[in-house]
Amino acid sequence: MIQTILGIESSCDDTAAAILHGNSILSSVVFGQTELHADFGGVVPEIAARAHAEKVDLCVEQALSQANMVISDLDAIAVTAGPGLIGGVLSGVMCAKGLSVSTGLPLIGVNHLAGHALTPRLTDQVPYPYLMLLVSGGHCQFLIVKGCDNFERIGGTIDDAPGEAFDKTARILGLQQPGGPEIQRVAGSGDPLRFTLPRPLLDRAGCDMSFSGLKTAMLRARDAVIAEQNGLFPSDQADLAAGFQRAVADILVEKSARALDRYYDLSPNAPVFAVAGGVAANSEIRDRLEQLCAQKGATFVAPPLALCTDNAAMIAYAGYEQLGSGRVDDLTLSARPRWPLDTRAPTMLGSGKKGAKA
Ligand code: KG4
Ligand code: ZN
Repeated sequence: MIQTILGIESSCDDTAAAILHGNSILSSVVFGQTELHADFGGVVPEIAARAHAEKVDLCVEQALSQANMVISDLDAIAVTAGPGLIGGVLSGVMCAKGLSVSTGLPLIGVNHLAGHALTPRLTDQVPYPYLMLLVSGGHCQFLIVKGCDNFERIGGTIDDAPGEAFDKTARILGLQQPGGPEIQRVAGSGDPLRFTLPRPLLDRAGCDMSFSGLKTAMLRARDAVIAEQNGLFPSDQADLAAGFQRAVADILVEKSARALDRYYDLSPNAPVFAVAGGVAANSEIRDRLEQLCAQKGATFVAPPLALCTDNAAMIAYAGYEQLGSGRVDDLTLSARPRWPLDTRAPTMLGSGKKGAKA
């Protein structure tokens, strides 16, 4: 029987609820918090937690009404139980527990990263196994996805996530937030070769990445331009943005090539290479990854942006698969700030503005 699942997400700065019936998304509501954090240059955990606590039940109510359903139409409740900012995760988990107690519906704790990693199955019914690159403001890792509870992490950032680097670089260049779309816009008229910028860790074997040195190099390059010309002109902004975007693309493409080689070592079958996360919206990065896949004989899958960024449909879907494999939780479910998908892989060092990365 196809089940109807309520998903709840509150691990970072989006409060979200969605209703899923099998693979069909009946509703997906996302309340963002961008304006609440705008003055602080990053997500403030206490402000985020309070906003989640205030909005999560309202968000569930809207998701139900948009799906034309009442709570008794549901078969289970899936909720992000980590990793993320603990106050926010707690708001969602407590809401889900309350609903589960009052209705008797099964409760399923979902790993937020599993939600992202399983999205290509929700949108494109991609069979296991496949290769996944998560690139957002809070995450950056390569995963071989073998099952709803079976992930092998083969690399990731050792410091900032690429989205953080885009946002910080935008700030350095005096552009607005979120920085990614602004950098892309300004880079459109820039010369990516004018500035020599580093590609950290490219000389090191493996699929780990680093972006914080690139950000520091941007700061130095900007200061050098200002010192030389007594100001930063739009053409300088454009050239710096284009150079930065090219450097991030080069890093992601080279490490993706290595991840694909690693995948081919494990399985000779042509893989699916899927991306998720806000940075996957960048057209230069996306085009270059698509070209790489064509060269390497892999199928490139990029879910629609609304399902690449934080949402609750992906949490409901991961819950649906977990329920299918008999994995349900009880009221002892706890909120976890850190929750690596692959417990055998070494701990990632980075823990950026959007909370723990693994
Ligand atoms: O997945 P997401 O919405 O949220 C989380 O990080 O959880 O990703 C947001 C990040 C931001 O850092 C934003 O600057 C970046 O994705 N982003 C982009 C683009 N659109 C959004 N980065 C580069 N190019 C873009 N077009
Ligand atoms: Zn996320």
